[in-house]
Amino acid sequence: MSYQPIKHVLTAAEISQTVTVRGWVRTKRESKNAIFIALNDGSTIHTIQAVAQPGQFAEDLLKLVTTGSCVAATGTLVESQGAGQKVEIQLSDLHVYGTADPDKYPLQPKKHSLEFLREIAHLRPRTNTFSAVLRIRHALAYAVHKYFNDNGFYYLHTPIITASDAEGAGEMFRVTTLDMTNPPRNEEGAIDYKQDFFGRETNLTVSGQLEGELGALALGKIYTFGPTFRAENSNTTRHLAEFWMIEPEMAFYELEDNMNLAEDFVKNVIGYALEHCADDLAFLENRLKEEEKTKKKEEQSELSLLEKLRFVVDNNFERLTYTEAIDILLQSKPHKKGQFQYDVKWGIDLQSEHERYLVEKHFKKPVILTNYPREIKAFYMKLDEDGKTVRAMDVLFPGIGEIIGGSQREDDYEKLLMRVKEVGIEPESLWWYLETRQFGTAPHAGFGLGFERLVLFVTGMGNIRDVIPFPRTPKSADF
Ligand code: 4AD
Ligand code: MG
Repeated sequence: MSYQPIKHVLTAAEISQTVTVRGWVRTKRESKNAIFIALNDGSTIHTIQAVAQPGQFAEDLLKLVTTGSCVAATGTLVESQGAGQKVEIQLSDLHVYGTADPDKYPLQPKKHSLEFLREIAHLRPRTNTFSAVLRIRHALAYAVHKYFNDNGFYYLHTPIITASDAEGAGEMFRVTTLDMTNPPRNEEGAIDYKQDFFGRETNLTVSGQLEGELGALALGKIYTFGPTFRAENSNTTRHLAEFWMIEPEMAFYELEDNMNLAEDFVKNVIGYALEHCADDLAFLENRLKEEEKTKKKEEQSELSLLEKLRFVVDNNFERLTYTEAIDILLQSKPHKKGQFQYDVKWGIDLQSEHERYLVEKHFKKPVILTNYPREIKAFYMKLDEDGKTVRAMDVLFPGIGEIIGGSQREDDYEKLLMRVKEVGIEPESLWWYLETRQFGTAPHAGFGLGFERLVLFVTGMGNIRDVIPFPRTPKSADF
């Protein structure tokens, strides 16, 4: 007997055919005339209903079929009399792979809080919400690769273990094989990393960009898509200690080309999800509508999830400089009324409350901010002529804040060397990076998209811990 995914049986299999599906029991319901088993196998958000006649199967077997158990169901596909489904399976054979003791199985068919589900991350993919999120996550990852492949980019695998701090923020996880209870010491009494595995200090990467630039200055257009790690103690709904980042890097691109690419790219991958994840998005849209009802009127979103996604795909992002944004903030009501927690003046690192004001209140659309003060941005960004600002760009999204950070890169050797020293990096440690500016340097640019922030936006979920299968956050690395 060949098995078929439930998605296929529900949409494409012929009536009167004998089919076999395998999956996990969502519910079992018994009435006088029939026993109904709802099965899901993860191929779709929908369950298939399998129907047995009373007395058809031994009581001992039926007893094992409970919520969470895993079964194979064989029978004739028939048109369903019941509401809610077009077809169902009239069972002829039932096999139980694995039982799930109803007294112990934590995922009962009722509403569980997202907080509770985080505690059972090993089982939560079996819920409608998480399976929908994970299928959309997959579709977005595929769309990312497809977009770049279709547009002449090469996928470059940059290292995960590295000796450099690309963002210069010192938020790195150390990688070592030294015995930390009794590490070797050098003459100064410090830990002697010369004796460590790589003969030097190494960390998990915070970004693949620096190596990505090396690739772009040979292959033209590259992108990375891999895990990145940040040991920042940020317990927010937008931060993970381990997240996935997509970093394209393009030779001969300047800031404007970079913005055009970023905008086209995010619109394209969101468009892909709209086209290919209709069932899952419809489910999440309803979920969100229910959630919105519990909020106060003024906090309810004006747009539904699908409307919001279409809005982003169909409208131009607003583009303005950091300096212009500061002027808008200085003129804003919340600033004048002292309602911002953080003060606004030229030179500050914009806080999320400022970003959200610009995106959600002032422009009501995605915004690209450019030309930030050099002091608040990384050393590799190209200096503007005035020497005060750099060719940075951040893309800000409603409900998310910063979703993309990028820039044109400093391609002038002397200026780059000055910036490296200015921020306190040993030039020798970046000799290979600096050399690319001595051997055939070229204008180039790139950006990083936080993949989970994109998945957050597309799924309408509220917490970044709920859009990655197994989140890593401060004090939490179970599963
Ligand atoms: O702005 P960031 O720090 O930029 C870079 O790492 C550059 N090297 C990118 C480049 O130009 N190639 O990070 C880029 C994006 C942010 O905009 C955000 O979406 C995401 O990565 N991000 C995080 N996502 C989840 N958890 C965190 N702790 C994140 N930190 C950054
Ligand atoms: Mg950033």
